[in-house]
Amino acid sequence: MNTAESIVLAAEKRLEHASTVDHIEQVRVDVLGKKGALTELLKGLGKLSAEERPSVGQAINAAKKNLIRLLDEKGEQLAEGARQKDLINTAIDVTMPGRGRTNGSAHPVSQVQAKIEDLFHHVGFEVARGPEIEDEYHNFEALNIPKHHPARAMHDTFYFKPDLLLRTHTSPVQIRVMKEKTLPIRIIAPGRVYRCDYDQTHSPMFHQVEGLWIDEIATMAELKGMLNSFLLAFFERDDLEIRYRPSYFPFTEPSMEVDIKLPSAHGLSGWLEVLGCGMVHPNVLTNVGLDPEQCSGFAFGMGVERLAMLKYGISDLRHFFENDLRFLSQF
Ligand code: FA5
Ligand code: MG
Repeated sequence: MNTAESIVLAAEKRLEHASTVDHIEQVRVDVLGKKGALTELLKGLGKLSAEERPSVGQAINAAKKNLIRLLDEKGEQLAEGARQKDLINTAIDVTMPGRGRTNGSAHPVSQVQAKIEDLFHHVGFEVARGPEIEDEYHNFEALNIPKHHPARAMHDTFYFKPDLLLRTHTSPVQIRVMKEKTLPIRIIAPGRVYRCDYDQTHSPMFHQVEGLWIDEIATMAELKGMLNSFLLAFFERDDLEIRYRPSYFPFTEPSMEVDIKLPSAHGLSGWLEVLGCGMVHPNVLTNVGLDPEQCSGFAFGMGVERLAMLKYGISDLRHFFENDLRFLSQF
């Protein structure tokens, strides 16, 4: 009897110091396992006399029951300790300030494009669109830029294969529209264009808005007057300095480019080219089946990012495509 009780007492001492589930399991094995101390005692019962056997057997069983209860209690204690630790580790401080949310907004290039569309919509222009993947006919040939024409070199074209390319300007939409619509034509065609170009004022993908006006008679004076009104309305500034510079495009004659004087606070200095324009070349009208004796027109193609740079005072056009939220959230 003493032996059984002392085994349990020793086990209880060990359990007091047990700090892991493994420790408890080891005590269980040492006492109740196949070769455990109490198990051995039970095995010895057979050697006792018939009178002694019942009382000793009872004592061993009582000790066994006692130990099982101690093991369970200790196990429960350890589990509770682990739960408490976990609660503390994963605790949330509800008094901390929240992380806050900000609203998104349209990209500055989209905002500028929408503004351009809006202004031209007011003077009777419709929006037209064409594919970004074009063929040589629409991007070049129909625009009076035959193969081997030196003007092709100005475009730094991305080709997929000889007759398939990423459009280098929105001017091919002119061809598609003139073939489809009847006069008078007044469209703008906004969209992405691509060129192998990369620096402070050039990006390999950028946006243009093409404009096309074809009627019985259209004049250079009307083109200039319209662009002037547009630029003044777009920049909302009376002191805007605009420069019309003679230029060359195979699809217009005469041709001009328009520059805007950079404000002195701007990181760049001098003039920034924002668009090309001119009177639609008679060869282009002929190419789409119009008679240059019966109608005339003008066209322009403006750089959306360039206009955005000037409007918001941004010195590097590439900021528009880095998607840095510190930059974008200012618009
Ligand atoms: C053209 O692309 C002509 N298609 C414009 C045109 C249309 C002329 C209709 C006559 C009639 P240009 O290559 O100059 O022209 O480009 C027009 C404008 O796009 C430039 O004035 C500039 O504002 C902008 N631009 C040109 N290249 C880039 C570039 N790599 N990154 C950003 N903007 C550019
Ligand atoms: Mg140019």
